[in-house]
Amino acid sequence: MGVGPGPRALDAPAKLNLWLDVLGRRPDGYHDLESLFVPLELGDDVRVEPAAAPGVALELEGPVAVPAGPDNLALRAARAWLEALGPPPPFPGLRVRLHKRVPVGGGLGGGSSDAAAVLRALQSLVPPGRRLPAPALHGVARGLGADVPFFLLGGAAVGRGRGDELTPVAAGPPLTVLLVPAPWGHETARVFRHVEGRRPPPDPDGLGRALRALARGDAAALRAAHWNALAWPAMRAYPAFTRFTADVERALGRAPCLTGSGSTLYDLPDPGEAEAALGRVARLSPGARITRTAASGAPVP
Ligand code: C5P
Repeated sequence: MGVGPGPRALDAPAKLNLWLDVLGRRPDGYHDLESLFVPLELGDDVRVEPAAAPGVALELEGPVAVPAGPDNLALRAARAWLEALGPPPPFPGLRVRLHKRVPVGGGLGGGSSDAAAVLRALQSLVPPGRRLPAPALHGVARGLGADVPFFLLGGAAVGRGRGDELTPVAAGPPLTVLLVPAPWGHETARVFRHVEGRRPPPDPDGLGRALRALARGDAAALRAAHWNALAWPAMRAYPAFTRFTADVERALGRAPCLTGSGSTLYDLPDPGEAEAALGRVARLSPGARITRTAASGAPVP
């Protein structure tokens, strides 16, 4: 626990998209998706405490730097929750402490997960009668970002619509994951702007195969079922990502998977081959590391 022990220290897990299809553009400018999300053991630590000083103060620590300005999703989450709650504010002020480990711009959902952890913490800091009802909480989460509702739910899920219409799904034993972040981050909106028409998955039952493989904890079947329609837009938006992907494929000896809009590639190695695979990609990706899928996330109080 980077922020130290305490009753409000919550895990904010990263996520992977094991499967992701882009169905088309929506009238609201977003895209309709169908995606299989799983939480990871890798995550940030988030701690929220009432404070005497007015306003929301943000303290950042840990190996990953993020901007602490008003765009910070943890800050925006605290402010959006207070606004939805309405007056009188339940505390004079708030102190939010983030220990960041999840790479920024990696397609791993770190900022969205921090936001969801702040919402969970705030809900648990007020008496049950003062909490936002579930639909209002979901609305606040959705307004912060399409991935935030997934992190509020906890556990593996299929997301439809913008990715925020969620159905929990069964996950089997944890899977070993080799994360291979590119040495630069991707801006999600820029990748979506490079979506050109529909690229249907090669197997119409691809999501079904991925779901069955996840339920069994079958890494080889998940690798075979993997699909991410954002791979091509990501390479158009960031031409260097094409070369990076090819280099990682050569180093791994098989095609890597992609999470979200990147820039993190990943592999699902057998546990015995993970360290050797990490050694082979370390030169290409200084941030490469091994983690595992997490059985479940934290429930909303
Ligand atoms: O919701 P979030 O802020 O994470 O999304 C970032 C950007 O990614 C959006 O502004 C939008 O351009 C794009 N996006 C999309 N369709 C989705 C999710 C995100 O077009 N389902």
